[in-house]
Amino acid sequence: MSNSKKVFPAALEGTVTVPGDKSISQRVAMLASLADGTSKVTGYLNGEDARSTLAAMEQMGAKAEFRDDALYITGVAGTLQQPEEPLNMGNSGTGTRLLAGLVAGAGIEVSMVGDDSLSSRPMGRIRQPLELMGAHIGLSGEKGTLPMMICGGRLQGIGYLLPMASAQVKSCVLLAGLFAEGKTTVIEPRPTRDHTEKLFEALDIPIRINGLEISIDGYGVDGPRFKARDFVVPGDFSSAAFWIVAVAARPGAELKIEGVGLNPRRTALLDVMKRMGADIEVVVTEALGDPIGNITVRGAQLKGTVIEGDEIPNLIDELPIIAVAGALAEGRTDIRDAAELRVKESDRIAEVVKNLCLFGADVEEKEDGMVIFGPTVLRTPDVEIDSHGDHRIAMSMAVLNTFSDKPVTISNVGCVDTSYPEFWQHMEQLGGKVE
Ligand code: S3P
Repeated sequence: MSNSKKVFPAALEGTVTVPGDKSISQRVAMLASLADGTSKVTGYLNGEDARSTLAAMEQMGAKAEFRDDALYITGVAGTLQQPEEPLNMGNSGTGTRLLAGLVAGAGIEVSMVGDDSLSSRPMGRIRQPLELMGAHIGLSGEKGTLPMMICGGRLQGIGYLLPMASAQVKSCVLLAGLFAEGKTTVIEPRPTRDHTEKLFEALDIPIRINGLEISIDGYGVDGPRFKARDFVVPGDFSSAAFWIVAVAARPGAELKIEGVGLNPRRTALLDVMKRMGADIEVVVTEALGDPIGNITVRGAQLKGTVIEGDEIPNLIDELPIIAVAGALAEGRTDIRDAAELRVKESDRIAEVVKNLCLFGADVEEKEDGMVIFGPTVLRTPDVEIDSHGDHRIAMSMAVLNTFSDKPVTISNVGCVDTSYPEFWQHMEQLGGKVE
């Protein structure tokens, strides 16, 4: 199979349903695998990251079966088994960091490996709190990176002030807190996605949330006891984001996305698009738990804006496609306080700036973001755009080229399957042309 795609200019519009949320799918895989009984999961993401997390849980004793459009997971009732082989986490930072927390207190020895991109991402950020709780974490990569060896044991609850706004680190500590003696508290510097907390509440796991402070009473080394339940995974807002921008930046275009997760800590892109001038309508169809609904977008000539501060964690994965919007917008778009982008699946500040420049944009790279001066008179590059194994870079650049006047080839696009295997098919469904 070819690992590159040629994307042609096209006006995208229509209706689309995006696949299941990656963050929620992975958390559901972990918690349903730990539960007592069988959970039915609908909408589970059929992407590589969600699959590698589920496979890891199966290696530790959970049973998973896809049947009649649903996933059935039978959990281990709090007792994870010693895996015989290393857990191969593929490209998944969420899977790796959250699972590290989960297994740290389970009294088993686990090693984790991943692909080149994952093997370059910092893991010291989870080693520090887990060691404070009493686990032993070995990182044999050169810079505190994978492969990782976890020797768990009796964990003690801790109070931990997160050094960075990271839902992955927060969730890692809370999951370790499940197996700890006593209370574990994390304090976030800024609000980040709260799917772990929401799922704990849904499973009656004793969690208390007080602003940015979240506490959990540990069950101790014998592990947590909670009953299985059914889960519905909504469409992934971060996948919807590509089509939202593709249409928002084209005057006169219209798009409807159905069944999308609308957790307020994920949807800050909608506020940004409205500030930039797009017309966006949201209809909530399911209000119990995390809201789910339909988004209608009507495009406009966008104008620049500033994106910074507390908004950043709530659109962290959308920043590459927001930069695309910035390049198409009139005036100056500032992205600040986003240094975390440098340690995502690639250095997304460097990659976005480099690629936007190839398309003729006027962009200044900053340590914690970028400044884009638009609108860009798009110049389709004569060279191939290399995603460097980063799914969101591949999809963002594909969307950008729909606005140009010549096809572009994007190489290394296999990574798109980690979060959105139907992306190319959906682009064609919305009127795009891809070879
Ligand atoms: C995620 C949290 C974010 C995000 C990632 C998924 C999660 O990472 O970028 O794609 O599922 O918790 P950080 O929490 O490290 O910022």
